[in-house]
Amino acid sequence: MQKLIIKGKRELSGKISISGSKNSTLPILAATILADRANIKNIPLVKDIFTMVELLNFIGLKTKINKRKNLIEIKNYKKNLNTLAPYKLVKTMRAGVLVLGSLLTRYGKAKVSLPGGCAIGTRPVDLHLFALKKLGAKIKIKDGYIFAEAKKGLKGTTIKFPSISVGATENALLASFRAKGKTILKNCAIEPEIKDLISFLKKLGANINLKGRTITIIESKKNISQVSHEVIFDRIELGTYIIACALMAKKKVIINKINPKMIKSEINLLKKIGVNIKKYKSSLIIIKNNNLKSISITTKPYPGFPTDLQAQLMVLLTQANGISKIKEDIFENRFMHVPELKRMGAQIEIKNKTAIIKGPTKLTGAEVMATDLRASVSLVLAGLVAENRTIINRIYHLDRGYEFLENKLKKCKAEIIRI
Ligand code: UD1
Repeated sequence: MQKLIIKGKRELSGKISISGSKNSTLPILAATILADRANIKNIPLVKDIFTMVELLNFIGLKTKINKRKNLIEIKNYKKNLNTLAPYKLVKTMRAGVLVLGSLLTRYGKAKVSLPGGCAIGTRPVDLHLFALKKLGAKIKIKDGYIFAEAKKGLKGTTIKFPSISVGATENALLASFRAKGKTILKNCAIEPEIKDLISFLKKLGANINLKGRTITIIESKKNISQVSHEVIFDRIELGTYIIACALMAKKKVIINKINPKMIKSEINLLKKIGVNIKKYKSSLIIIKNNNLKSISITTKPYPGFPTDLQAQLMVLLTQANGISKIKEDIFENRFMHVPELKRMGAQIEIKNKTAIIKGPTKLTGAEVMATDLRASVSLVLAGLVAENRTIINRIYHLDRGYEFLENKLKKCKAEIIRI
């Protein structure tokens, strides 16, 4: 099994380019089932994307990845597909469940494995199924699979989600893409990745309007079957590198290929903590500030502070002056990085849903274990700031979502190797 070894306390300087968004690419790839031909640019070359492509291949689409150009070309001229998403692919990557909406729309049926639990919590799909049922799909759960059918197509209606879910909003969008009449989705997730999916669907002829947390889809007679799309940058990857630089960039680090407007609230929060951030049109410059302030925040759906940056922020707060609090309000079990950070010297206490972080603390290298994607990267950040050597085990989690992580950090003078 591969490990990362990080020699801490190396000052970072240089340039980092941010990759395309994993969480944008995944639903857009699921949406390519709706097109005859699609070219998707700026895809990140990470494990989750390869798993989704494997799923599309399994279903019967023809895919070709050009790694040099971060481009995927997809063809789907088939009248009948293998409308099955098997357990072995959905269990490793929950976003596999997103093919449900697209398959129902284009082929009127789907059999998709239930994703099951994952390290950060139970993560059910009841909200996905709630929306599909409202749109007229017949749903049955048997032998660990969701059997969905809409032989005569889906029918527009008004759906109010009882709570906000990114995946359920995406599946509902994919299922209402060709639903008859008008669909109104209320209390939706409005993450930039959802907006990217909407812009992809619009290119396919969809008539979609987003206002506040309400999305209206009006049946469109336009049928565009060939589409080209460039996915947005990965705002979580960006947030992760801002924090890396806030910890270790004594000289400046330039982070480019981004749009600062898309992470306005995260930048404001980091500035409040004292992170030195200069904003430009498509880049940021970060310089370390030795006098960081403590803060109390709660993770929330966009535009709130993202749960996907909670673990990374926690590492930053171990270096801030005073007591900080982070309440995790999205997932029930997302503090698994805490025992590992404590092994490195962090002073963190968990009370119910809140982590209480005492800073500043000197972190020292240790052998630690990655438990999920974002927890893993928080250990990398801790390794960068810690004294001596940190060894991170089980780094396959990192490969699910961070493109060229070691190379990007090495280019900025970090000492990090994979063995
Ligand atoms: C997506 C992101 C993930 C991020 C999360 C929250 C992708 C591929 N993944 O995951 O990185 O951490 O949004 O921003 O985009 N829930 C239900 N029933 C459902 C669906 C969700 O109760 O049917 C609950 C979940 O357990 C969780 C909350 O709703 O507590 C939010 O989950 P959701 O927004 O659906 O996350 P994902 O789409 O799985």
